[in-house]
Amino acid sequence: MPAKKTALIIGASRGLGLGLVKRLTEQGWEVTATVRDQHNADDLKAVPGVHIQTLDMDEQSSLEVLTHNLKDQVYDLLFVNAGVTGPRHDNPTDATAGELGQLFLTNAVAPIRLAKRFVDHIRPKTGVIAFMSSGLGRVTSPGSPELALYKASKAALNSMTNTFVTQLGDNKPTVLSIHPGWVRTSMGGEGADIDVETSVKGMVEQVERFAGEGGHHFVNYKGETIPW
Ligand SMILES: NC(=O)c1ccc[n+]([C@@H]2O[C@H](COP(=O)([O-])OP(=O)(O)OC[C@H]3O[C@@H](n4cnc5c(N)ncnc54)[C@H](OP(=O)(O)O)[C@@H]3O)[C@@H](O)[C@H]2O)c1
Repeated sequence: MPAKKTALIIGASRGLGLGLVKRLTEQGWEVTATVRDQHNADDLKAVPGVHIQTLDMDEQSSLEVLTHNLKDQVYDLLFVNAGVTGPRHDNPTDATAGELGQLFLTNAVAPIRLAKRFVDHIRPKTGVIAFMSSGLGRVTSPGSPELALYKASKAALNSMTNTFVTQLGDNKPTVLSIHPGWVRTSMGGEGADIDVETSVKGMVEQVERFAGEGGHHFVNYKGETIPW
């Protein structure tokens, strides 16, 4: 029997991260998933077989502990899903330095810091690193002015990811910047287009489709390419 494929999912207490864990587990993957607070992980704990670790992606010390705990592991997939909406001011330029720092740390810098720590743990040739981007991260994405800062943080994530990819040496994993669709989660809201199951089914299909391809691709959950 072939060995199970392995995944590390960052930010899996709820929403899309939890959905990814459920989908991958159903598909026979061996899944490790992180939460910020083990007391806020009942839904994740109910998924059979999942290994749960604690991580606040913003905290270097928390990342050190995770890296130490998983130092002997190899992953077919690292999915950096965690993200926040950030401040919603009528005028985005009213945001405070603290709000801006928090948003850009969580959405744009911490994902890359984490990926740098785990890139040598990704399976050579076929491994995939996926970052949860957004169609709103297109530099020319129209509309949603109330989300201007969130949009900029995902555009910054895409740019940081591009730099990360250009600095990878041999044995490069395939890197995906994925748009999950507009999804009914606490972030996406009840009026969003699709449910979590539809989104994660599509995203797992893209991970499997792109494994071994190499390069950096900005795609949605249906596999359609999104212009930067
Ligand atoms: N929903 C959509 O329509 C949509 C569209 C495009 C992109 N996205 C992106 O998809 C990702 C997941 O969104 P979602 O809709 O599932 O949102 P969600 O339900 O609000 O879930 C966000 C997840 O991120 C975790 N998280 C936040 N900050 C963290 C940190 N510093 N360290 C570790 N974990 C952290 C949260 O953990 P706690 O439970 O501890 O807060 C939670 O598990 C985000 O990156 C989001 O930007 C969503």
